[in-house]
Amino acid sequence: MDFKIPLSFPVFNGNENAYLQRAISSRHIATSGEFITEFERRLSTRLKSHEAVALNSGTSSLHLAMVLLGIRPGDEVICQSFTFCASANPVVYLGATPIFVDSEKESWNICPEILEDTILSRISKGKKPKAIVIVHLFGMPAKLKEIMEISDKYNIPVLEDAAEAFGSQYLGKSCGTFGKIGVISFNGNKIMSAGGGGALIANDTASVQHARLLSTQAREDLPFYHHLEIGYNYKMNNLSAAVGVAQLEQLDTFIQARRHINQRYRILLEDFPGINFQTESPDSQSNYWLTSIVIDKQITGFSNIELKSALTKNGIESRFLWKPLHTQPVFNMTPYYGGSMAERLFENGLCLPSSVNLTLQDQEFIVEVMRKELSKTFK
Ligand SMILES: Cc1ncc(COP(=O)(O)O)c(C=O)c1O
Repeated sequence: MDFKIPLSFPVFNGNENAYLQRAISSRHIATSGEFITEFERRLSTRLKSHEAVALNSGTSSLHLAMVLLGIRPGDEVICQSFTFCASANPVVYLGATPIFVDSEKESWNICPEILEDTILSRISKGKKPKAIVIVHLFGMPAKLKEIMEISDKYNIPVLEDAAEAFGSQYLGKSCGTFGKIGVISFNGNKIMSAGGGGALIANDTASVQHARLLSTQAREDLPFYHHLEIGYNYKMNNLSAAVGVAQLEQLDTFIQARRHINQRYRILLEDFPGINFQTESPDSQSNYWLTSIVIDKQITGFSNIELKSALTKNGIESRFLWKPLHTQPVFNMTPYYGGSMAERLFENGLCLPSSVNLTLQDQEFIVEVMRKELSKTFK
């Protein structure tokens, strides 16, 4: 279905066409070409202390990150339950088991207290987790200070799934640069897009070089095809990188726009009791990729399901929050630690349209639809 107001659509107001033309004219449309190196160089400059390897998706970046962390069959990997399946699927690709952990109510991301309890519980069962996958959902930084303290205390590396959080900051530092390895996604609906793609980010040269090698089928630098390891076809192509470079030039404008949209929703919905926003802490700055709310049905008189169908009826796209992975049939044999926080967020939450080019009129229309359509229920 085509929506009048989509959830998160890319905008191409910069050099996308020019760079794509240049890439095509150069005839480098596959995994070599000037834009791949340029994209990696500019990403690394932005991330300051870290280097980026441009890959063909956020999922492949997570998979490669887990390979680099040495995750093997039979290992256990702790993972935030409240997330998209791509955060945990690569654990399974490697024959390891995800151990899901609940969220806390402020950032909606992994709860540090439950995380520590989980580590202690798994250690007591003779299984020290091999890594901790944390996520910055909808752009909101997780409680990184507490999480990194736990990671250091138990000497378990953090893999930061910053797929949704490129440009978000915690204590003035980029999300994705706290863990041993970080991952970003550039798929079609993210804060900036490369058509599809991702990046693996790390600050040790050995990991970066190893990621580059593994992403190109682990082909050794020799005149003939020679392989010492099993590799992957995960490198980004030059066309995606061309779009990526152009989008990266506009990233700060995109972040500003999404933050502005979030602010406007807060103002427009101020007198709508029972609607609560995912909100920053004093330490964190979200890119507000998607403005997300939870609805207190007792107060509003309507549910997220009713709100979503009212919006859909009027051509407005919205999306339920992630269904926690420990409740997914495919993961029903997987251990879970925590209470019902993630489930309650899923049952009551909704992501609102947040595209960079969403106008004030669009937002006023969305809120008007909410008032009109739902007045029957909430009066
Ligand atoms: C939290 C999270 N992790 C991982 C991914 C995977 O990224 P990609 O779609 O680029 O494979 C996504 C986005 O789709 C995501 O939202």
